Amino acid sequence: MAADVLLGLQWGDEGKGKIVDVLTKQYDIIARFQGGPNAGHTLEFDGIKHVLHTIPSGIFHKEVTNLIGNGVVIDPIIFKKEIEALLKYDENITERLLISRKAHLILPTHRILDAASEASKGKKKIGSTLKGIGPTYMDKTGRNGLRIGDTELPSYKQSYEALVEKHKALLSLYDFDYNLEEMEQEWFDAVEYIKSFQLVDSEVWIAEQMAAGKKILAEGAQGTLLDVDFGTYPFVTSSNTTSAGACTGLGIAPNKMDDVFGIFKAYVTRVGSGPFPTELFDKDGEELQKNGNEFGATTGRPRRCGWLDIPALKYAIHVNGVTKLMMMKADVLSGFETLKVCTSYKYRGDVISHLPFKIESDLLEPIYEEVPGWQKDLTGCTEETEFPENLNNYIKYIEDKVGVPITLVSVGPDRKQTILR
Ligand code: GDP
Ligand code: IMO
Ligand code: MG
Repeated sequence: MAADVLLGLQWGDEGKGKIVDVLTKQYDIIARFQGGPNAGHTLEFDGIKHVLHTIPSGIFHKEVTNLIGNGVVIDPIIFKKEIEALLKYDENITERLLISRKAHLILPTHRILDAASEASKGKKKIGSTLKGIGPTYMDKTGRNGLRIGDTELPSYKQSYEALVEKHKALLSLYDFDYNLEEMEQEWFDAVEYIKSFQLVDSEVWIAEQMAAGKKILAEGAQGTLLDVDFGTYPFVTSSNTTSAGACTGLGIAPNKMDDVFGIFKAYVTRVGSGPFPTELFDKDGEELQKNGNEFGATTGRPRRCGWLDIPALKYAIHVNGVTKLMMMKADVLSGFETLKVCTSYKYRGDVISHLPFKIESDLLEPIYEEVPGWQKDLTGCTEETEFPENLNNYIKYIEDKVGVPITLVSVGPDRKQTILR
């Protein structure tokens, strides 16, 4: 059986967690393929809101197995806290969660290095979530990393110490105070806790499950414009957030991939630093932030808001091979007289309709078209037939511009506020 992929097409926080939860009943396995606790995936149902960081968003469905794939980086302390918060709701969740032995561990010194690196960058900082993501992936590609599977070996403590020594040498290059001892005991305890979970050679396990006809949904974190290759480098995360990352982050071959679900907000948000062509600094931007409750699920930072950017969306559809689009937070646009949509850019004197190498504001300026908005509150809609005409027009307008169907429209944070088309 083939696997489907679900991922974000913008700068993260598109609503991936919500939709994975909605789709889970169609799958046997939900597998996270990259990122780590920099992610914050929000799920709402039965009046309760859950925010997941490392754990796949299928975890609330009793009949489904969840896998943390080899492409993910895990902070044992955050993982343990996350599990403990979930155990209040269901004490059996640990039985349906598997962890890849090849997933890399975020050490306390990775977090310290992240903070030291950001502090040293001053105004040029990435706006990292400070969870140690960059330094951990650097050690992975630098071939120094410590993986979950290493903790099962007698050489574990020695490998840990060797890596920490390297980190201390690096930290001596920064003017940065830290107290490692304070963090270490909690970390070691949390590693022991992780070891009580089912650790698996996940790529082998996945191959067996697929051969047995099981259906897999690969869950992405972050978004396409934060991809280390295709995003707004260097203001990106350190993993491949795009569909190719699902292959490397789980060990599923490209010819075993089927649908690619691309999730996008009906407008755009970004948290952290970096260019954002359609960013709004006016009343409309404030309105989007307020109505959309745009505050980061992991760091609580306000999210920057702006109009939908079609060239960026087309780019994301292209690099991921998106087959089906899902439009989130349509309800947040209710009340605008007109909506602006960026359809091309003025780039170094020319008009272009693709996303160029650099999108910094001194090089690029968005060109907008205007479309009529709608006033109706959408949060109570249960069927597409209840949509106001101008929302239907907005959907059709986007589909025509990008050439991929929008198969789902989300009109609120709750599981039930989801309309299939
Ligand atoms: P993720 O990282 O892609 O899973 O997204 P986040 O959870 O970080 O951010 C999405 C936010 O929007 C969360 O607070 C969700 O509860 C909320 N949300 C998701 N879909 C909708 C929607 O259609 N309308 C509204 N108003 N909120 C939504
Ligand atoms: P989810 O999965 C939004 C951003 C950070 C920063 C940059 C690098 O919830 O969509 P990092 O900590 O990875 O070194 O930060 O990436 N970022 C996210 N923005 N949603 C996320 O995840 C993000 N994960 C990282 O704000 O700009
Ligand atoms: Mg998020």
